[in-house]
Amino acid sequence: MLEFDEASARRVETSYLTPNVVDQRRQVIAALDLHPGESVLDIGSGPGLLSVEMAGAVGPAGRVTGTDISQSMLDMAARRTGPAGAAPVTFHRAGVEALPFPDAVFDAAVATQVLEYVGDVAAALREMHRVLRPGGRALVLDTDWDSIVWHCHDVPRMQRVLAAWDEHLVDPHLPRTLVGALEQAGFQVEQPWIIPLLNVGYAEATYSGGLIPTIAAYVTGRGGLTAEDVDAWTAELRDLGSAYFFSLNRYVFLARKPG
Ligand SMILES: C[S@@+](CC[C@H](N)C(=O)[O-])C[C@H]1O[C@@H](n2cnc3c(N)ncnc32)[C@H](O)[C@@H]1O
Repeated sequence: MLEFDEASARRVETSYLTPNVVDQRRQVIAALDLHPGESVLDIGSGPGLLSVEMAGAVGPAGRVTGTDISQSMLDMAARRTGPAGAAPVTFHRAGVEALPFPDAVFDAAVATQVLEYVGDVAAALREMHRVLRPGGRALVLDTDWDSIVWHCHDVPRMQRVLAAWDEHLVDPHLPRTLVGALEQAGFQVEQPWIIPLLNVGYAEATYSGGLIPTIAAYVTGRGGLTAEDVDAWTAELRDLGSAYFFSLNRYVFLARKPG
């Protein structure tokens, strides 16, 4: 699995500041329908971008708590400041499978791009359910990597790169089983939806432009891919210029703990 050390934490932060992921956070916050004074848990808070934006939405009477298992991510998140009038935000080192909080203390809990890295998703969802108050909302967002459309000329090489990249997650196809898993944990699931990430024309400062070096670093030496193979894959994509085409779906599930 991908280790979130200082270098990869910085790469995640860069790609999460691109317009696609800024818009993803906007949609997540709108769907959570946060109110002033609410207490929100951000599980796998990573660089803390969503945490501080949610702190703005719940205001000074609210509270946001972030948790993560990566110290590099927690350090990065702790340096982030929220907008004026934002709720206090605290970050804790904790795995989602055993949250260090009492029962029924949060109004909302969110895990974006986290559960696909988790071995025991059922335990994670049971923990999200336990710490939510009755009527509380959970939002889970994950990628299904089979939804990727990435134009290239060397299709077999692209397939080898993406097969090796699938290994960076415990479950690269988690969304297709999440409704059942949420219901099993005791949630009522509302209508799921997708957030497509689309980049047409190559540009480094886009979600997929930033993803290319992350994938390149991870797959080199995996699945028989040499540094030369990966360099050629990278160069081919960059050289596509205006013919470059990438799309990928995020799947979003809003659920409620029965009240
Ligand atoms: C791709 S990042 C997403 C960060 C953040 N949720 C966001 O959307 O901006 C995944 C994060 O999940 C964290 N993570 C992975 N497994 C975890 C676990 N079992 N418990 C808590 N956090 C975990 C990683 O350390 C990393 O910070």
